[in-house]
Amino acid sequence: MSASKLVRPAANYKESFLEALHEYHQEGNFLYKDIALLKNSFNDYIKELRAERGHPHQPYQKWVEPVPETVTWLVKDTDYIGTVDIRHRLNWHLEKWGGHIHFIIRPSMRGMGFGRKILLKAMPIANYLGIEKALLTVDPANAAAIRIIESCGGVFQDEFPETNQFPARKCYLLDCT
Ligand SMILES: CC(C)(COP(=O)(O)OP(=O)(O)OC[C@H]1O[C@@H](n2cnc3c(N)ncnc32)[C@H](O)[C@@H]1OP(=O)(O)O)[C@@H](O)C(=O)NCCC(=O)NCCS
Repeated sequence: MSASKLVRPAANYKESFLEALHEYHQEGNFLYKDIALLKNSFNDYIKELRAERGHPHQPYQKWVEPVPETVTWLVKDTDYIGTVDIRHRLNWHLEKWGGHIHFIIRPSMRGMGFGRKILLKAMPIANYLGIEKALLTVDPANAAAIRIIESCGGVFQDEFPETNQFPARKCYLLDCT
């Protein structure tokens, strides 16, 4: 059994990724990603994720300027464990909600240390992409994510209450150098 590692999305994780997507759907995440559609066009999906030109942020409004984004998956052998998205720069939307780095672990693999691992492994990649201090925005009620961000060196900046457009968020800066 090999150690977990970050990789670019690839077709050999198809089965495991689609199972994870089912788990994400059950908790209300990524509902805009259609499992049946992806099953039939997985190679195109992989190509899109690897383009780095700016994976479309479909949950966002159409008028939000897309930014380039590098998507990587945490995997172990042929199992997909989680995703970390690194936005190369911020737009006004990401400044309020989203930040430079977003990470998620599939529900069935949580509580095993992979959340901390995925963020730690993403930091040198963010730095390689030119990001020195990464902004991370987090739900103030998300104790596990806050614990991870702080244990990786994230420094609290500010907390914003919920508005009509954005949910409440705590903002952290993470030194990736
Ligand atoms: C947040 C998330 C990534 C955590 O993943 P995970 O693999 O369960 O995290 P870990 O196992 O690495 O645990 C991280 C730390 O949080 C702690 N933790 C876990 N659940 C917790 C909870 N409900 N309350 C308080 N602390 C908690 C763990 O004990 C661990 O602390 P430790 O290192 O001191 O032992 C995962 O819950 C997730 O994907 N959530 C949905 C997406 C999300 O919120 N992403 C964050 C965006 S900023």
